[in-house]
Parts: sequence; structure tokens; C-alpha cells
Amino acid sequence: MDNFLVMKDITKVYDNGCMANDHVNFSARQGEIHAICGENGAGKSTLMKMLFGIEQPDEGTITIKGKTVNLSSPTRAIEEGIGMVHQHFMLVPSLTVAENVVLGIEPTSGLHFDMNKAIEMTEEVCKKYNFNINPRARVMDISVGMKQKVEIVKALVKGCEILILDEPTAVLTPQETAELFQQLRALRESGKTIIFISHKLNEVKELCDRVTVIRKGKTIDTFDTAGVTEADISRAMVGVDILLEVEKEPAQPKENVLVVKDLGVYNEAGKKVVKGVSFSVRSGEIVGIAGVEGNGQRELIDAITGLHVYSEGSIKMLDKEVSSENIKGLRKLGMVHVPEDRMTMGIAPKMSIKENMIADKIDDPRYVGRILNKPKEIKEDTDRWIEEFKVLCENGEEQINSLSGGNIQKVVVAREFTSYNRLLVCDQPTRGIDIGASEFIRQKLVEMRDEGKAVLLISADLGEIMNLSDSLLVMHGGEIVAYITDMEHLTEDELGYYMLGVKRMTPEEIGGALHA
Ligand SMILES: Nc1ncnc2c1ncn2[C@@H]1O[C@H](COP(=O)(O)OP(=O)(O)OP(=O)(O)O)[C@@H](O)[C@H]1O
Ligand SMILES: [Mg+2]
Repeated sequence: MDNFLVMKDITKVYDNGCMANDHVNFSARQGEIHAICGENGAGKSTLMKMLFGIEQPDEGTITIKGKTVNLSSPTRAIEEGIGMVHQHFMLVPSLTVAENVVLGIEPTSGLHFDMNKAIEMTEEVCKKYNFNINPRARVMDISVGMKQKVEIVKALVKGCEILILDEPTAVLTPQETAELFQQLRALRESGKTIIFISHKLNEVKELCDRVTVIRKGKTIDTFDTAGVTEADISRAMVGVDILLEVEKEPAQPKENVLVVKDLGVYNEAGKKVVKGVSFSVRSGEIVGIAGVEGNGQRELIDAITGLHVYSEGSIKMLDKEVSSENIKGLRKLGMVHVPEDRMTMGIAPKMSIKENMIADKIDDPRYVGRILNKPKEIKEDTDRWIEEFKVLCENGEEQINSLSGGNIQKVVVAREFTSYNRLLVCDQPTRGIDIGASEFIRQKLVEMRDEGKAVLLISADLGEIMNLSDSLLVMHGGEIVAYITDMEHLTEDELGYYMLGVKRMTPEEIGGALHA
């Protein structure tokens, strides 16, 4: 049915005057997977928030199966058969999976919440759609991939016919993505309509039947994905051709900046999750870390950046033991960190863009005098960074909360890249960031490398990590199983074998990662 869902001439102006949608037209068929693509701030999430009743359009109509609907709240949207998995998850961490799934439609027996029934409801949907999750687990204890399944199940339990996924794969590993795609295809088979927002054009090509491109709040066109290339889609998004790979000269590494030796780290449950890890990152090189989530990378990075204590071995930043420094001390040494979870660790949501960018520089005499801040310098520099990092906003005074997801991430990246640094620890630096701005960030990383910075890069984007890294460590089961220096001949398949633990190098080969 071609007019299953029709959003016609939708216009949305936010209170601050930002016209996020300008007469957008979008329609979806029953039983299709339909992508929405566009740059950061193009208006994708806004359009979907209106479909899910979180925001109200100023103009335009929404019809489902030919009937005009008034989606005045998410409750109404759910009644009309719409479900949404948000760009930033909305689960309650302290509750169990089942409790989260039935949130809003809690089953009761007598006056009390009926936990058994909640578990039963969760299990029933999991079984029907082949989702493997534990309804009794606490959300705070489960992986990101699991959390996302919980969000989908939560929508399915409420009987949704239209499922909106806002950048669902940004946080997933390749394996989790493959699993998600299988599940989404099965949902399509069962007649569900899936709206899929993503910056990863290869995934759009692989998964989606059609794609609608939005640019600066306006619909550009809708295409059958089979009939267009990734380059066609990106041209429609941006209006010009863009480079898809960063060019770089071979690295010229110099002295060690970070030295990790025989490191052992235990998680909260007392399990050893990093085992005998040794490597160094030198000035003038980008060292990548690849691995399937949950193989110790998280804890390794947390230990390096001073967020997690380690009991065995040592981590030295410019000859200083990391465990004897606090976060401020590490920053003084020149360690900056683009964290994976930018929404909880990266920003102060109620503060302005400017304040967020300057937050870690309050000791810098350029910005702070003996008594007062120096507003002119702060404004000058933050304005320049906003432009350089392509942060789409009215001005630096705007509250960071009102930015689109990708633009919030750019603020965090800008803040870290512009701080005093000798070592950059970048955890998924381009996640959720559109291709144009990703290109800029990658280019910038290479530039900083060439200026003699040491870069440690963690990325679930295999294309990115293979393109940028001068050498690559692969983690599996808490250990380094490969140290790859011949990046030119590395294939994605081979990397996959190391990541899955099917293949590993000899201890001698891996030992090369530590440049003593
Ligand atoms: N609550 C809000 N208040 C004011 N302006 C907003 C608000 N939410 C979004 N905007 C603005 O509306 C525009 C569209 O934002 P939206 O979140 O829809 O973009 P997006 O296409 O989803 O981008 P991304 O790829 O970065 O997630 C942006 O310019 C953004 O700054
Ligand atoms: Mg968005």
C-alpha cells in the first residue's frame, strides 16, 4: 500500500526560531524498510519526533492508511501503532529488562505490579520475533547491543506497525549489526514498516528498500536504493561530491608517549577482563584498537584515561604512572579523551555550546584572568571552532541540548581536539557524525599526527579504523591477539578472524607492539 503512512507538507519551527522541517514530504509503504538520510541537523530526528508525538508540527498532516491522525503525544502515537527507538536510549538503568519493556502498560495483579506477567509478555514477543534477551537482567548490566534489542521489544510489545529506528547501528559492532539486520528483515516479512535513520550509506544500500534524502529541513527526493549508489545518496545529502577516504603519508613515529606494560584489569564483578596487555603509542602515529565489544577494550581505555583502577602492570603517560594522577593531572600531561558515551560523560546538557567547549580550559590564562573570565577571547575561539568543526547552531550561546545528536558530538570532539594535547584517546570519534564532518575529523586526526601527537583510536567502524590506523591492535578475550603493521594488505575478512578469535599471531609478533 503506497499511502500506508503519509507525512505531507510538514513544517516545524522550534521555540528558538530554528526551522527544522520546511514542508517536508515523506511516505512509507507497508512492509518496507525506508531510510532517511541527511547531514547532521538536516531535520531527520525532528520529523520522526513528530511521527512519534513528541513534537507537534506547525503545519502539515499525517495520515495512516488514509486516515488523518492527531499525534498529540507518544501515547497517542503508540495507539496508532507507531514505535520508536531513539538516538539516545531511554531505558531506566536500575530496572530489569521486563520492567522496562512494559513501562507504561504495566500488568497488575490486584494492586501490585505483576512481575511474572511482565516477564511472560517480554518472553512471548522475544519468541515470536526471535530476540534473545534475558527479561530478568538489570538494564545497567547489559551491553549496548542488548539495550537496543530491549528498546525494539518494548515497541513490539505495544503492537507497533511502524517502527522508527534513529541511528540504531551507530553503537553496534559489525556482528550485532548483522543480527539486527536479520531481525529487521524478519519484521518486514511480517508486514511491519521500518523507518531507518543512518549515516552509514553502505548499510542503507544493504538493508533498505527506499531512501528519502533531507537537506536543511527540505525533502530532496525519494529513491529505490537498488537504483542509486552511495555516492548518489551522499551527493543528494550534501549537494556536492565528497571524498570517502582520507589520504595520508606513511607515519614517522618518534618517542613513546603512552606505554602500557603487562596490564591486568578486573571488572566490578572481580573478573579479569584485560590480561597481560602491552603496547605503546608513539608521537606521530595513530594506533588503532579493533575488537568485538566486550573484549576488554572498554576497561583498557577506562584504565588509560584514569576512569578505572588497575592492579597489575603499569600504564605510563610520558613516564608518569597514570594511576598516581587524577583526571586533571592527566589533562595537564596532555591526555585528551573523546569518550564513547558522549551523552552522559561528554557534556553539561544545560550549559551553552561555548561553555561546553571551554569547560576543560578554565586553567588556561588565555581564557581566565586572575579574577575574571576573558569573554572576548572565549567568544573569538569558540566561534572559530564552531565554524571549523561545522557545528550547526544559531550561535555559541545556544544551550547544547537544543543541538541535533551529531552536532552535540562535534562540540565534544572540538573541545578535546583544541585542548593542550600530546595524546588523543579517541573512542568512536565520528559515531553519529555525517560523512562531511566525519571527513573533517579524520583529516584533523591525521594532521595532528603529523604535528607529532600520539593518537589512540578505538572504532567499531572497520572502514575508518583500517583507513586511519598506522598500526592496529586487535583485542579478543581481554588479550591482544594481533599487532598489524602492514595496513595496506589487511583485508576486512582477516581482521574479522582476529576479532572473533579464530586466528591469532605469535607472542613474538604481538610483542612488537611495545616499542621499548
Ligand atoms: N529541542 C530543540 N530546540 C531547538 N532547536 C532544535 C531542537 N531540536 C533540534 N533542533 C534543531 O533543529 C535542527 C534539526 O535537528 P534534528 O535533531 O532533527 O537533526 P538530525 O537530522 O536528526 O541530525 P543528526 O544527524 O545530527 O542527528 C537542528 O538545527 C537542531 O539544532
Ligand atoms: Mg538525529
